[in-house]
Amino acid sequence: MKIIQQTETLQKWVQQQGANTLRLLVPTMGGLHQGHLSLIDLARQKADQEQREAQVVVSLFVNPTQFGPNEDLDAYPQSLQRDQELCEQHGVDLLFAPSPDQMYAHDASIKVSESLLSSVLCGQSRPVHFDGVCTIVSKLFNLIQPQVAFFGEKDFQQVAVIRRLVRDLNYPIEIIAGPIVREPDGLAMSTRNLNLNPQQRQQAVVLRQSLLQAKQTLDHDQWSPQPIKEQVREHLASASLGRIDYVEMVDPQTLQNLEQAQSSILIAIAVYFGNTRLIDNLYWKQPTAPSHENL
Ligand code: PAJ
Repeated sequence: MKIIQQTETLQKWVQQQGANTLRLLVPTMGGLHQGHLSLIDLARQKADQEQREAQVVVSLFVNPTQFGPNEDLDAYPQSLQRDQELCEQHGVDLLFAPSPDQMYAHDASIKVSESLLSSVLCGQSRPVHFDGVCTIVSKLFNLIQPQVAFFGEKDFQQVAVIRRLVRDLNYPIEIIAGPIVREPDGLAMSTRNLNLNPQQRQQAVVLRQSLLQAKQTLDHDQWSPQPIKEQVREHLASASLGRIDYVEMVDPQTLQNLEQAQSSILIAIAVYFGNTRLIDNLYWKQPTAPSHENL
């Protein structure tokens, strides 16, 4: 596995590759866990199915511009040595791990901003977050010039914003979204889980449990959004150490709030445990009624 830390070296590496080489990118902020590794494995599988030369590239960069002034940038867990080993074990060809001064000039004055999908859900409590994500992901796309990039559905809104970025800025890149990977008790894997104390960690299962309870209502009953959101809120409130940031039920395409029931929906939630903010979501599609021929 090759490791590059300088943007210039990375650009040279990209230039040296044949015009026909496929590059598959998995952007991360490190602190790798099974969620990240599932995306790397997807990229490796796709690369191995190709007839032509294909390179799996992982970027590892804790991007300061996507953290607000009072957020957990300084507390964000980092484990470069272990991340390198994991990348090696999972067949990564190139690990790009730049320092902040490699990615941002001290007087950098351009940012990439998405104004619609970013204004709801996490964008409400993290106003600079998606500008930071769009800016760094654009820079990674420009530097690495991948044809395929992988993102996790745990950050459902991020995937929607990145798809919009690709569409609106004409990046010739296919975006592949991987499913949420969970701990055995259902908690969505997250680098931030390491910052939970044992009591918080125990109570954090409430995120998944509240979503599963909502799913039961969605599957079996006539429903409307407001009571379901209330049900999720009540369930989340049973975790005494948690503080709800938001509980929303939105259209999965537009991310706009639902006024009434529809056939596919997203329930998205965010809860603070201390300074650690956890998110989770449930994508629900109306089960299709069995057709008469099959009865
Ligand atoms: P990070 O939080 O490190 O996540 C990197 C990728 O892993 C994202 O696409 C995220 O959705 C995915 N991921 C994280 N936890 C997951 C889980 N439990 N199951 C499945 N996928 C999971 O997201 C970022 O970094 C940054 O915003 C980034 C895109 C790298 C830009 O800085």
